[in-house]
Amino acid sequence: MQKIVVEGGIPLHGEVRISGAKNAVLPILCATLLADEPVEISNVPHLHDVVTTAKLLGGLGAGITIDQGTIGSGGESAIVVDPRSVSSHVAPYELVKTMRASVLVLGPLLARYGDAEVSLPGGCAIGSRPVDQHIKGLQALGAEISVDHGFIKARAKRLRGAHHVFEMVSVGATENVLMAAALAEGTTVLENAAMEPEIADLAECLNAMGARISGAGTPRIVVEGVPRLHGCRHAVIADRIETGTFLVAAAMTGGRVTARRTRPDTLEAVLEKLREAGATVTVEDDRITLDMHGRRPRAVDITTRPHPGFPTDMQAQFMAMNCIAEGVGVINETIFENRFMHVNELLRLGADIRVEGHTAVVRGVERLGGAPVMATDLRASASLVLAGLVAEGETVVDRIYHLDRGYEHIEEKLGGLGARIRRIG
Ligand code: UD1
Repeated sequence: MQKIVVEGGIPLHGEVRISGAKNAVLPILCATLLADEPVEISNVPHLHDVVTTAKLLGGLGAGITIDQGTIGSGGESAIVVDPRSVSSHVAPYELVKTMRASVLVLGPLLARYGDAEVSLPGGCAIGSRPVDQHIKGLQALGAEISVDHGFIKARAKRLRGAHHVFEMVSVGATENVLMAAALAEGTTVLENAAMEPEIADLAECLNAMGARISGAGTPRIVVEGVPRLHGCRHAVIADRIETGTFLVAAAMTGGRVTARRTRPDTLEAVLEKLREAGATVTVEDDRITLDMHGRRPRAVDITTRPHPGFPTDMQAQFMAMNCIAEGVGVINETIFENRFMHVNELLRLGADIRVEGHTAVVRGVERLGGAPVMATDLRASASLVLAGLVAEGETVVDRIYHLDRGYEHIEEKLGGLGARIRRIG
């Protein structure tokens, strides 16, 4: 099994090019199923979850052409999905269990073909993560849904537009119902919708396919259903979580890093906390520069919230920063239960963290010491690599397949900023 070895102690300096967003490309790839012509998606990151989604769509019968670009040189890759050959409407357990986002084919398959069977995602390392909001939203559009033998089975002759209020804010449920509504008959109004920038990007892609969606990125989305969606070309929005991760790496190491080809407007809550930690943050068009001037960060308090609040996907990285910061930082996780699995690993590096329920109190220590640690989920793995960048000696992060699900060439990108980091095994 591959591992990442980091030797700590080097302030990061330089520029890093930000990739397309994992959380945008996955729903957008699923949305291609709604079209009746090929759809070309560019700025696609090289990620394991993208490969899994391509397998899922290929398994349904879609034609997939991948243009790899120039790997490692900042070259982009593009994927063309030709949905005309789709012949199966079943998302099997083998794929859904490795990637929960597979559930996002439910809405598109149902809207386009009138039936869909998607395996229930089951347990997940960061909490139970049910899909009841996806199901209720699709039922509101007239779908008949049953859960049988571990599968969600959905049927509808033609979905009908409806007024639906989500009981809670869910990114995935908003996306699934939005995609289905694009081909429904009549108008759909979705209230209490998630406002994540990736939802606005999905809507932009759907509109390029001929959909009529307004309000995506706000809590109220209005969709005028259309009878068909055509092909289009769409470039995926920049990854705000990857951006934030590199900026935290710069802050922790006392360095100066510019993230380029990013979207500063999607990172306001994160940038505010980095400033509070003592960093000078400068924004210029699609670039963000963080300069820590060689100083140690100050501890910050964090409460995770749906967008535009502080993202849960940055919680673990900020916890790593608090571990070596000056002072005490309190971290409240309100989105997922059980999303503190990185705590025990950070403790192995010498951190001082106390967890009570959904709250972690992190007392900054002068230094961490390298040790073997184990990645437990995607963002937790990132926090361990970050901690390794400042720990004395060698940190070996095991089970990095979690990292490869969501970070494109992380060791090459960090290496380009001066970090001593390598992949082994
Ligand atoms: C997406 C992101 C993930 C991010 C999360 C929150 C993708 C591919 N993944 O995940 O990186 O951490 O948003 O920003 O975009 N819930 C229910 N019932 C449902 C759906 C969700 O109870 O039907 C709960 C979940 O268990 C969780 C919370 O709602 O506690 C938020 O989940 P949701 O916003 O749906 O996250 P995902 O779409 O799974």
